[in-house]
Amino acid sequence: MTSDTAAIAAATRPAQDLLARRHATLGSHSPLFYETPLELVSGNGVWLTDAQGRTYLDGYNNVPHVGHANPVVADAVNAQLRTINLHTRYLNSRVVEYAEALLATFGDGLQRLFLTNSGSEANELALRVARQHSGNTGVLVSDFSYHGNTTSLAELTTGLQVREPLGAHVRPVRIPDALAADAGERLLEQALAEVDAAIASLQEAGHGVSAFLFDPLFSTEGLLQPPAGYVDGVAARVRAAGGLVIADEVQSGFGRVGSSMWGHQMFGIEPDLVTLGKPMGNGYPVGGVVTTADLLDEFGRNNMYFNTFAGTPVSSAAGLAVLQVMEEEGLMAQAAGVGAHIADRLRPLAAKSTHVGAVRGRGLFFGLDIVEADGTPAPALAKALIEDMKTRGVLISRVGRHDNVLKMRPPMVFTREHADQLLEQLGLALEALEK
Ligand SMILES: Cc1ncc(COP(=O)(O)O)c(C=O)c1O
Repeated sequence: MTSDTAAIAAATRPAQDLLARRHATLGSHSPLFYETPLELVSGNGVWLTDAQGRTYLDGYNNVPHVGHANPVVADAVNAQLRTINLHTRYLNSRVVEYAEALLATFGDGLQRLFLTNSGSEANELALRVARQHSGNTGVLVSDFSYHGNTTSLAELTTGLQVREPLGAHVRPVRIPDALAADAGERLLEQALAEVDAAIASLQEAGHGVSAFLFDPLFSTEGLLQPPAGYVDGVAARVRAAGGLVIADEVQSGFGRVGSSMWGHQMFGIEPDLVTLGKPMGNGYPVGGVVTTADLLDEFGRNNMYFNTFAGTPVSSAAGLAVLQVMEEEGLMAQAAGVGAHIADRLRPLAAKSTHVGAVRGRGLFFGLDIVEADGTPAPALAKALIEDMKTRGVLISRVGRHDNVLKMRPPMVFTREHADQLLEQLGLALEALEK
């Protein structure tokens, strides 16, 4: 068999066989979406094609930020791979060009970069910097969040199943949600009092405060929307206690929120550390920590940080190509425009359905609370909707403490026309729920 005919044979092998082989090698706990898992074989922009030749509109994936199989990224990676690919212990212009281009999108205080290969590595490193700087170990996180898969991140994970118990140095705090049906007038005051209590408890236990780690979109939490004054209020309290502020921009970064390049800019704050991942290399693994000159120098003086695959010319070429396409195609402005259009169309759709509560999100990350007629969360209905959307050719997912918030977070090349297609199918799927 030639390699071509072998590939065709592999692609047409029945899905059940592939699933059995996957279970026999990767095990059955490695998660797969959908009752009948999708075998996707190719992508193009916002479109995905399965092994049977059916195409789907991708309303879910944020890693292919500038579109699936983007030719500019593919060509840049390919050209660099054919030229040279080495770690950062030799001078190479590509990584410096990338650092310059990336840092140009940040505020004046955030002008240094550590490169990593994933969001987990970035958060792990940011926590390490914060611990060393503050001399403390305590961490404040949201009480339903996920920041990565290392041991120290597992110890602060509350938004996904892990065996590790919550670390004694971790205090999860409830993120106040201005969109919740029961959000009272004292929402902000009560939530900040909870933060004060968490800080006091860390200090009493001798951990002190090293960091507040948060996702500006509170996405795992179900796209919660804190009231004005919350995020900056927490940041001020954490800093007063000697800790640092870490914005995890793995989900919210790179123009996703439409109004700004970075999610933390929605709150008018400048964090001490910003962690990056997912969309950074359009699928080529690239992550990073952006920080201040002082913090990077302090860490560098005391630690020899080296990361074999991080900041190679190839990963830098991928990162540069993503920034280039974003700029050339005006994707941040597009996210703002398409996002506003989606929000306008979601509201009447929600008003018509007895099963939709709050309309959530910013830019090209939007969600709907799926609820029972009495307003309680309806995870089974959310799951049914996601399956129905798949049969209608649109991929979406769900998040949140009750797993009932529809999660729609397409590649940034999603246009108004794509949005209208998604919304039309969502409207029909919601109508079907009423019957
Ligand atoms: C907010 C956030 N931070 C960090 C991570 C971890 O990133 P990675 O899977 O690249 O290690 C994720 C992954 O889902 C995430 O959503």
